[in-house]
Amino acid sequence: MEKTNFEEIINRKLKGKNLEKEDIDAVISAYVNEKLPENIMISFLTAIFKNGMSDEEIYHLTKAMQNSGITLDLSELGSVADKHSTGGVSDSTTFLIVPIVASLGVKMLKMSGKSLGFTGGTADKILCFKGLKNNLEIEQAIEITKQTNGCFITQSDLLAPADKKMYALRDKVGLIESIPLIASSILSKKLASGSDIIILDVKFGAGAFIKNKNEAGVLAKIMVDILKKEGKKACAVLSSMEQPLGDFVGDELEVMESISILKGLKKNKLFKLSEFLSALIIERAKGVSFNQAKKQVHESISSGKALTKFKAIVKAQGGSLVLFNKDLDIFKKVLIKAETNGFVQKINTEKLGLLTRQFKQKYAGFSGIENKAGIGKLITKDSQLVKLYFEPKHFKKIDKIEIKNMITSYAECFEILKIKVLTKLKLIESVIE
Ligand code: URA
Repeated sequence: MEKTNFEEIINRKLKGKNLEKEDIDAVISAYVNEKLPENIMISFLTAIFKNGMSDEEIYHLTKAMQNSGITLDLSELGSVADKHSTGGVSDSTTFLIVPIVASLGVKMLKMSGKSLGFTGGTADKILCFKGLKNNLEIEQAIEITKQTNGCFITQSDLLAPADKKMYALRDKVGLIESIPLIASSILSKKLASGSDIIILDVKFGAGAFIKNKNEAGVLAKIMVDILKKEGKKACAVLSSMEQPLGDFVGDELEVMESISILKGLKKNKLFKLSEFLSALIIERAKGVSFNQAKKQVHESISSGKALTKFKAIVKAQGGSLVLFNKDLDIFKKVLIKAETNGFVQKINTEKLGLLTRQFKQKYAGFSGIENKAGIGKLITKDSQLVKLYFEPKHFKKIDKIEIKNMITSYAECFEILKIKVLTKLKLIESVIE
């Protein structure tokens, strides 16, 4: 058999030419089977990063990555829904959507990843329910989904292993923000996970991997087309990540916020987007109109059914229910105040996410933050920008100078201008079908 000339393939891509399915299959298979050195793979990814890929190439890359592992057969569950966010800060829609949709009789076996870069990971957040097991065998996850309609599991190593390896390499060498690489990464996992209804939440803005709205639109369209080609009921929502989606950043605080929304206690941006995405799933799963779907979603929350369902799923996965009654009052809080008057013009959302991850690693007992000043808010001197949350027993151990450093770092994330030059921010930009 003729030996594959990987350098020739990479050179072709570096010259901006298109690759054939066979070329892409050969690279992915060699890389997964440890037959392609890391430096060659970096050159391949860099060539894609620089020169992009045609829609056909992205499709072949996605399929090669999907076929590097198994594809789940969920047919014993009937129709199964999934949703995927391209990643953001304070993005906890999964903790609302899974219970809402499950309470309305639609099955969702939600596979999630860990934190990436400055973004939070659902797989980490769900572990705030002490004792909860999310590294389940697929058979166990199917059983739980049969009982409760919902289950939260971590990405299995058997699914799209090429993505796991490639993603770690992209993360290491800074090759994340590329439309073909993001599309194939997400879709290889989604196609392998076996659901038939797939809703994508494609983020743009300061707290997203893709900052530019038009580029996010291109990514969304490519992904929806591939999913449809694969016979999925799919659509993508283009949503703003210019500022944190929820009011809180920090795993446990974000889960607590989702619980308070399911208790009917608040209706913020996180609620609105979760409601919208849930209704898109119900519309497709039940064949009802979007408005009818939205009514069902409302009813699921107002009746308390979604909250009850969340508890049932957590319990079925062995998690403690204590967090459902934990009160924000127990935390020790530090206020960060504005030092000038004006309007919040911009929030460096990426930095806000990154700082929270770094400080949480550094200081045991630091739980995260509450963002008190959304974009466009009128700030007077001494208005609250951010509240820091600490577990009381650890708070005493943190040096006051360190706290001052945290205050300065967070305050720098807010750009405050004397005049209001903003146009109103739209949370949900469009739906791409
Ligand atoms: N999420 C993924 O799963 N992959 C990417 O490349 C980016 C976001």
